[in-house]
Amino acid sequence: MQEQDIGLIGLGVMGQNLALNIKRNGFLLAGYDSDEKRLKESGKKLKEKNIPVYYPLEIFVKNLKSPKKIIMMIPADQVDKLITELKPHLSKGDVLIDGGNSYFLDTERRNKELKAEGILYVGTGVSGGEQGALWGPSIMPGGNKEAWEHIKSMFQAVAAKTPDGTPCCEWLGNGGAGHYVKMIHNGIEYADMQMICEAYFLMEQVLGLIPKDMHIIFTEWNKGELNSYLIEITGNIMAKNDNETGKPMIHIILDTAGQKGTGKWTSQVALDLGVPAQTIVEAVFARMISAIKEERVAAAKQLSGPGIKFNGNREEFVEMIRKALHASKICSYAQGYQLLQAASRKYNWNLNVGRIALLWRAGCTIRAQLLDKIKEAYDKEPELPNLILDPYFKSAIDANQDGWRKVVAKAVESGIPLPALSSALAYYDSYRSSRLPANLLQAQRDYFGAHMYERIDKPGEQFFHTEWI
Ligand code: 6PG
Repeated sequence: MQEQDIGLIGLGVMGQNLALNIKRNGFLLAGYDSDEKRLKESGKKLKEKNIPVYYPLEIFVKNLKSPKKIIMMIPADQVDKLITELKPHLSKGDVLIDGGNSYFLDTERRNKELKAEGILYVGTGVSGGEQGALWGPSIMPGGNKEAWEHIKSMFQAVAAKTPDGTPCCEWLGNGGAGHYVKMIHNGIEYADMQMICEAYFLMEQVLGLIPKDMHIIFTEWNKGELNSYLIEITGNIMAKNDNETGKPMIHIILDTAGQKGTGKWTSQVALDLGVPAQTIVEAVFARMISAIKEERVAAAKQLSGPGIKFNGNREEFVEMIRKALHASKICSYAQGYQLLQAASRKYNWNLNVGRIALLWRAGCTIRAQLLDKIKEAYDKEPELPNLILDPYFKSAIDANQDGWRKVVAKAVESGIPLPALSSALAYYDSYRSSRLPANLLQAQRDYFGAHMYERIDKPGEQFFHTEWI
């Protein structure tokens, strides 16, 4: 009986593809799925590639070399149940890895529970969708550090590589650090996607451009500073026609967005940590308002807004949209990075945020040229208070802000919603304001609730209360 290097549980498309990737890189692995039907179907495909599948769970585990290494590629809500089933078959020193999108505090808890039993638990983000899993995902592991020596060579072999060959996989920190970093990756992904959607909507609604035109524009944008996977696929989407009707696919798809929860978690964590991450949060709300389609359709018949008129130069406006997208993207990354740093402090993860930019440089959905500059910024100044203070990003925003403001103003004037692009601008303007109207807010709080305020002429002294009436 051949002993396998690693076992993979969860043979959905991501799991299967990751299994094929591991095998292609020269490791022996076995597959398992608790769903017998799926096990049979995917088992056939995997067996063709010399990947055995075993049933039941006990036999699957028995076929693994010790210390046993098992990676779970299953939905987050099934992880606890599977751990309970697996535990009787595991011994001290075995490595259990969750490669799904689990909530990082669940991963923290599981880490502690399993550490007490001597099992080395790892929570790892895996990004890049089906193709990434097959050809090289970005892998973000964290948890019990003792596990790293057992999985490092395999994980770095199967991970995507940056253009200079650096693997997009590095140990991130203990507890839930890996899943936290993946969650923030997804928050940034949500904002990126929403901002691109708003750019598309502006071109369609204000300029009346058709998908073919936008295919050319996005493809062009992808050659410059906006170069990224999401811009690339958006260009491709614009070129795709529906086989049934011959119409552009983008005109066939219903405008209600789905979500699985990682953007929502990022937003909740931003509120918990007190980190302003409004662009990411707005991207989540944008999906939510898109989802209430029936209500929107009914409201559209009753609520009025301004008409859309455009008399300017179309090419110039397209360039302004590009600038708005670039500047906003910098702000949403800045928010994501603030979230990384805040949690790193709170949970003592000591995250290397520059290295994280490199983990995201290839393989994952937010891979983008901009990440090289983020890496450089944090290499130069690891304690940079905010990405937008880095000289490169400061001047990038300066070069783009005129167009950004004009685009947001035009959208407001035309009644076109730009929740992400406009919130990024508000974030920028708030962050660069030495004075905000919170003095009034404090007065109001003190007026109705005696919540007290600080005085500018007696700094750091104490809190004061006024008898307002
Ligand atoms: C990735 C993605 C992936 C995520 C999907 C769906 O990095 O490969 O982030 O992990 O699950 O993008 O997310 P939503 O359904 O929430 O959009």
